Amino acid sequence: MQTSLTQLLGCRYPIIQTGMGWVADPELVAATANAGGFGFLAGAVMTLEEIEQGIIQIKQRTDAPFGVNFHMYVPHAADIVELCIAHKVRAVSYSRSPAGSAVERLKSAGIVCIPTVGAAKHAVKAVELGADALVIQGGEGGGHTGSVATNLLLAQVREAVSVPIAAAGGFQDGAGLVAALCMGADGIAMGTRFLLTQESPVPDATKAVYLKTPPENIVVSTRLDGMPQRMIANPYLARLMRASSLGLLIRALLNGLAFSRATGGSLFGMMRGAWKMSRTGDLSLGQTLMAANAPMMIQQAMVKGHPEDGILPSGQVAGLIDDLPTVQTLLERIMTEAHRAFGRVQTLVANTHHPSDSEA
Ligand SMILES: Cc1cc2nc3c(=O)[nH]c(=O)nc-3n(C[C@H](O)[C@H](O)[C@H](O)COP(=O)(O)O)c2cc1C
Repeated sequence: MQTSLTQLLGCRYPIIQTGMGWVADPELVAATANAGGFGFLAGAVMTLEEIEQGIIQIKQRTDAPFGVNFHMYVPHAADIVELCIAHKVRAVSYSRSPAGSAVERLKSAGIVCIPTVGAAKHAVKAVELGADALVIQGGEGGGHTGSVATNLLLAQVREAVSVPIAAAGGFQDGAGLVAALCMGADGIAMGTRFLLTQESPVPDATKAVYLKTPPENIVVSTRLDGMPQRMIANPYLARLMRASSLGLLIRALLNGLAFSRATGGSLFGMMRGAWKMSRTGDLSLGQTLMAANAPMMIQQAMVKGHPEDGILPSGQVAGLIDDLPTVQTLLERIMTEAHRAFGRVQTLVANTHHPSDSEA
């Protein structure tokens, strides 16, 4: 299935596997690429060396194109940009609007820039800064998320920009893909659905919690890092909700220190990045500092396999998912379902009397 998105990214199907911290590892990205989708490595939680190793490992597993996801506000962002250029990755995905110079540098090297945005005004800004395409994530999506539902955000952004759009937030099947295409998207991007596959590295005990949680128990909270984030309501989140502001700040500083050490940075470097970020007006200094909180708490569940002692970022769509297929099976199934859904649309078109018919 060819759309402007598949042409830009060089994949067979208009289906993106998004960058998810500790989930989108080389195996998942390569499996997606080999199955005809387009995967992003979760570079946002990796050191520079880990990203490079990840790129090399993906290339050992597939000849198909893939991308890297990272945050433009980290101290080593410029180095990640150079790494992506040196390794000729097809695309980069980032979640906060970067300095236009980083986008220019990437684009001059022929790398597709496809940021994720959660609001129409951010979509316009990202395109002004040079984005070649957009992932627009509606409020039902997992991880950091906006407040506007996917179908509304898609309608807003489709009006406002002319670059290819992948709709994200709530997708898991072929009917959803067709619905998004009918609404003017050029493809879909999925996080949670790819998290729940055989190739996803998330421990089984944690996957089991995702599979049994209904959509109404997948909630948005700002308690983790000060920004709205969608996650499974579990005992750990309940404890965070009860903690005092001072308790949260102390936790943030300790976690920030641990995370800086783990990613090879320094707390000072992180705070300098936070200060720079807060001056762009996107986030306050306090919020950015608290962002350091998230990784340590997420790792408990997503890496160590203790779903009750950590945070489980998730889209509401987890509540509709009850299996763990291989990525290949998943993408084949989605495309089969999409053909069936197109068939239904074609029948409707054939049976629809258009007002202009009677005029003629
Ligand atoms: C476990 C998890 C981790 C995530 N980590 C990141 C990340 O590191 N960078 C990013 O840009 N988005 C991240 N997200 C958001 C996803 O990339 C994606 O936009 C979102 O999951 C789409 O909604 P869906 O889950 O309904 O498919 C994460 C989402 C989840 C569920």
